[in-house]
Amino acid sequence: MSSLNKKFPRLLPTPIKKGMKASDLIDSSFKAYNGGRLAEAGRLLSEKMLASDGTVGMSLTGALTPAGLGRAAIIPLLKAGFVDWIISTGANLYHDLHFGLGMHLFSGSPFLDDVILRKEGVIRIYDVLFDYDVLLDTDAFVRQAIQGNEFQRTMGTDEFHYLLGKYVYQRERQLGIRETSVLSAAYQYGVPVFTSSPGDSSIGMNVAAMSLRDSKLQFDTNRDVNQTAAIVYAAKSAKKTSSVFILGGGSPKNFMLQTEPQIQEVMGIEERGHDYFLQCTDARPDTGGLSGATPAEAVSWGKIDPDNLPDCVVCYADSTITLPLLTAYALDRVKPRKLKRLYDKRDAMLETIRAQYLRHGSVAKITHRTDVSAPKRGRSGRSVTGAARKKAGVSSKAKK
Ligand SMILES: NC(=O)c1ccc[n+]([C@@H]2O[C@H](COP(=O)([O-])OP(=O)(O)OC[C@H]3O[C@@H](n4cnc5c(N)ncnc54)[C@H](O)[C@@H]3O)[C@@H](O)[C@H]2O)c1
Repeated sequence: MSSLNKKFPRLLPTPIKKGMKASDLIDSSFKAYNGGRLAEAGRLLSEKMLASDGTVGMSLTGALTPAGLGRAAIIPLLKAGFVDWIISTGANLYHDLHFGLGMHLFSGSPFLDDVILRKEGVIRIYDVLFDYDVLLDTDAFVRQAIQGNEFQRTMGTDEFHYLLGKYVYQRERQLGIRETSVLSAAYQYGVPVFTSSPGDSSIGMNVAAMSLRDSKLQFDTNRDVNQTAAIVYAAKSAKKTSSVFILGGGSPKNFMLQTEPQIQEVMGIEERGHDYFLQCTDARPDTGGLSGATPAEAVSWGKIDPDNLPDCVVCYADSTITLPLLTAYALDRVKPRKLKRLYDKRDAMLETIRAQYLRHGSVAKITHRTDVSAPKRGRSGRSVTGAARKKAGVSSKAKK
């Protein structure tokens, strides 16, 4: 007999039973291919990313909120303290507003006549349908909200979404509805929400139009780049893990991953990369695009800590399937965590990384870099081994 039984678990699923919990179903029946990857993703999320108070960033692309995944999955993750910060496309935040404003979206069909839909004033996102008025009313809400004094300046997109979230929260209360909007939940739970392309959505379009009137609202993308790096640095300098939970790909995926090269390559601060990488996507790696780039490729850029590469997971499946399952899995397996409320610490985190940058960075070429083949070093300069690795929430199993 070969040594397979010493290296790998036997593939022997348990028969599916009536009333099984999603987490048990995934562990006992999802054994191979992308089912196997989804089971690994569930375990990575619950046993490593959420362990030891690690910081978890989530990136959102694809039409997730129009499919109802904000209310179904993202809000429960925020509420349980399982997602500490977010980078989203503007589209997901715009379509999230419909739910917070009590508007109606419908489960339709992908096989309808779009010319008739157009005549009837119906908008279609694959099989999701809603009235054109939903767009017009949401646009008006954004324009009216940003007329307020607090919006009349330049700000990071996290601050913009926090302020907008406050208005959505107030509207939810007026309507007597709750837990409908990601932006409202993020406001309540102090979860910073960034967008990597502020102009590329209906929110950005309304902000732009208002600048043709008298609005002074501008987005500070420099602050967003430094602020996101500051969140990762705050986790790593406290000897906690930093994990990325990527849905889809696109520009939010890069915006989340580039925090590490921003710290190392640009700011000259010693770092090794994010600890854990979980991506659910349909994007393929062989085209060279970032959406499909694997965690192994990200290691070469300093985006991912090479020590933890064996633990990284890519599941090639639709987020409308993977996200509800992973949410159910994590809620079954992990107790709710204390909310980090990173939004409340944004100025302090930015000040810390600024001081480190001014100490280590230069205008001229950065000539030093972390030796990833050397034993891991704590911020004190001592090697991080054994108990210290454990305390730092870093898996020793990953040390291969
Ligand atoms: N009205 C609006 O505001 C509006 C509407 C749509 C798009 N947009 C903008 O267009 C840009 C791109 O949007 P996008 O994220 O929808 O497009 P995208 O198609 O570029 O998707 C990004 C990545 O995610 C993957 N992906 C998409 N859906 C997936 C799913 N269900 N499961 C797994 N992987 C999936 C794609 O393969 C791709 O790699 C964004 O900046 C967005 O704000 C704006």
